Amino acid sequence: MRPARPIRSLRFTTVALATAALTLPLLSGVATAEPSVERHSNAKHDRLRVAAPDGFFVGTAVAGGGHHLEQDYPDPFTHDKKYRKILGQQFNSVSPENQMKWEAIHPERDRYDFAAADAIVDFAERHRQVVRGHTLLWHSQNPAWLEQGDFSKDELRAILRDHITTVVGRYAGRIQQWDVANEIFDGEGKLRTQENIWIRELGPDIVTDAFRWAHEADPEAQLFFNDYGVESVNAKSDAYLALVKDLLAQGVPVHGFSAQAHLSTRYGFPGDLEQNLRRFGALGLETAVTELDVRMDLPESGVPTRAQLTQQADYYQRALSACLAVDGCNSFTIWGFTDKYSWVPVFFEGEGSATVMTEDFGRKPAFHALLSTLKRA
Ligand code: G3I
Repeated sequence: MRPARPIRSLRFTTVALATAALTLPLLSGVATAEPSVERHSNAKHDRLRVAAPDGFFVGTAVAGGGHHLEQDYPDPFTHDKKYRKILGQQFNSVSPENQMKWEAIHPERDRYDFAAADAIVDFAERHRQVVRGHTLLWHSQNPAWLEQGDFSKDELRAILRDHITTVVGRYAGRIQQWDVANEIFDGEGKLRTQENIWIRELGPDIVTDAFRWAHEADPEAQLFFNDYGVESVNAKSDAYLALVKDLLAQGVPVHGFSAQAHLSTRYGFPGDLEQNLRRFGALGLETAVTELDVRMDLPESGVPTRAQLTQQADYYQRALSACLAVDGCNSFTIWGFTDKYSWVPVFFEGEGSATVMTEDFGRKPAFHALLSTLKRA
């Protein structure tokens, strides 16, 4: 997911976007959405979590670093009051963006740092939100002590087991869904046998062990495979389907499959998302959309056109509708709700405006598309 050359975050304001969007034409898919970008409202009927059907979780990533090349601002979650207010009001599910990843929560071999993750879980409980834990076995954002350490196979296995037991155990009963294994297949549906330290050093069965250890540490948590590029029926999602069938047949505690859904208007909407989620649901799994954002190529001004915002709203609406249409897809998370802290401009040169709110929390057509779709559901 990392582009060759990171760039500075592009900044544009609600005022500019509002000017561009004021006369936005209505699209059939977002027919009831308000087209203009407007300031945040506190009204209860304007809240995603209130509009959501019973038992449906509408979530966001909780911003945690990695958004700008130079982070000349304090941590959003602890310092941005407006951000926190909207986070609590709009969502009934939260996912730590970086705060539960290995490099954050396990910075030294014999030291865990739970401060940031604890703060999010506490916040979630105060705001009656569930938490999606992210993530336990991944090839990225591992600490140097792990990636560059000189460990025997037995030691590595013990390190992973200790990590999963400690982290999952600490939050037992407080995490609704865990992304146990993240991005274990490449685009061709082959296991990442080189990049992923665990699979490389310990073989594919370590994935099975990870699910079993997580289940022992928190029998209530739903345990997921999570990946990008698996929105459609394709080689990668086929690989997950085959693996999950195999693991279920062996009695491995796998409960869910989730599509991250980092979409771009460059590549079109994955029109078979619903069909794809359904085939995992047919195995008895929960499904989820876990990291939705919709980036676009920004014009030189940095301000998206009306047509771009309309197209983006359509993608958001269709992704949500696909999840709502599938039994067992009860969790729908966007990867951040404001462009102020979006990871996209740092990773994709020339692209941005990927979230549902501007940098100063103005609501884009995409926000209204989600709200009206939830209200109709
Ligand atoms: O830890 C350093 C910190 O010391 C330094 O001050 C700061 C300065 O920029 O950088 C920090 O590391 C950053 C890290 O986020 C934590 O803040 C990295 O540079 C940055 O690359 C990293 O980006 C994250 C990215 O995962 C890395 O893979 C993004 O914020 C995060 O949104 C993104 O999330 C992933 C999901 O976990 C999995 N699916 C794809 C998704 C998007 O890539």
